[in-house]
Amino acid sequence: MVPVTGRSGTTTVGARAPIALADLHGSLADPVLDSMTFLNEIAGRFPDAVSFAAGRPYEEFFEVEAVHRYLRRYCDHLRDEHGLSERQVNRTLLQYGRTKGIVHDLVARNLSVDEGMDVDPESVVVTVGAQEGMFLVLRALRTDPRDVLLAVSPNYVGIRGAASLVDMTTLPVRDGSRGIDLADLARVVRDARAAGQRPRALYLVPDFANPAGASLDTETRVAVLRAAAEHDLLIIEDNPYGLFHAGGDRPATLKAMDDDRRVVYLGSFAKTGMPGARVGYVVADQPVAGPGGTGLLADELSKIKSMVTVNTSPLAQAIIAGKLLEHDCSLVRANEREAGAYRRNLRHVLDGLAARFGPGTGVSWNTPGGGFFLVVTVPFVVDDALLERSARDFGVLWTPMHHFYADGGGRHQLRLSVSLLQPPQIEQGLDRLAALIREMRPV
Ligand SMILES: Cc1ncc(COP(=O)(O)O)c(C=O)c1O
Repeated sequence: MVPVTGRSGTTTVGARAPIALADLHGSLADPVLDSMTFLNEIAGRFPDAVSFAAGRPYEEFFEVEAVHRYLRRYCDHLRDEHGLSERQVNRTLLQYGRTKGIVHDLVARNLSVDEGMDVDPESVVVTVGAQEGMFLVLRALRTDPRDVLLAVSPNYVGIRGAASLVDMTTLPVRDGSRGIDLADLARVVRDARAAGQRPRALYLVPDFANPAGASLDTETRVAVLRAAAEHDLLIIEDNPYGLFHAGGDRPATLKAMDDDRRVVYLGSFAKTGMPGARVGYVVADQPVAGPGGTGLLADELSKIKSMVTVNTSPLAQAIIAGKLLEHDCSLVRANEREAGAYRRNLRHVLDGLAARFGPGTGVSWNTPGGGFFLVVTVPFVVDDALLERSARDFGVLWTPMHHFYADGGGRHQLRLSVSLLQPPQIEQGLDRLAALIREMRPV
């Protein structure tokens, strides 16, 4: 018998010795897989703290009744537009479904309406969030230990986590002042190839990136596409926040400008549809040549999906589809209230920072043109211990930026998320943050 000490104390279980972490997949020892758990755990321990940490969508307009309405709307659509019988409607929603998804036509319509993108519905794979899409794409691309992913850094932990799960090394590319430093991209590609590595794709979030809030202007987008062609790279474009701009013109997505099918596009309905539905998608229209002829990368991703999640819940897809149909397939229209709240909150946080931290305080921040996130730079080290102290002693949560760097960057920075709060909470949270910064600042 082996005594095992767990959270609930010491118990005695069967004779088997504990499994050594070293005997499990290498990703389980990768700190990137602990990041989310650590951040959620802190938030859970300090539920009364004002949270600038969670990148979750605004909850004020959540409404369970809407789910029923969306389901009815999609069922009507199946009957009226597709001529399905009651039995077929039941089967579509309640039975196992098509691996690539059942709402691919509506996803393609949405991309046309909101993004001006002309997408073949057959190139769409509906996934369990964009997160599954990342895994499918990287699983397909990683064929050999030499295959590496390039990712504009700082980057979303989900992409590095997915890469880790498929044993793919991620090489950081600097973001620079334009959202991507193209000279650094060229250097990383050159060094990787010289070291015998094979850069397969470049991951980036061109609109209001998580965590830095940066966006690429049109000129830079064109240059990125040109650089990808020059270096023979696929681009993985992740776009969960693009609709939430603070005003003005929005540059076209890379995928909308992708004349030679170099861009694999990741979409998420978590911020624009409903996070609890867990629906996202991949657009993968790249031709794949095999013994049976030429197909689409989407079909290869679908094969992987069939062994991971089988298919995305048709009920969840139906809810998202109903929301799309209710707004003529425009998520811009569906999210007018939410986009307004994010704009208001971003303005409020930026004004609040300016009011609290004048010149000479050593505190600075960026000014994103929309999205959920901004980054504050401070004249002291920002680590997990400081976050814990901030939560315990000051009642305010944020995210240490080092979690978004694989190479030790971001040690003087913290990410603020503006998406979940109301203005009075923002005021209170900024007061608390200012108190923490006052205490930490060197005098
Ligand atoms: C940049 C980025 N990509 C993808 C996701 C995850 O999307 P999903 O919830 O659809 O898996 C997030 C969520 O925070 C994100 O910030």
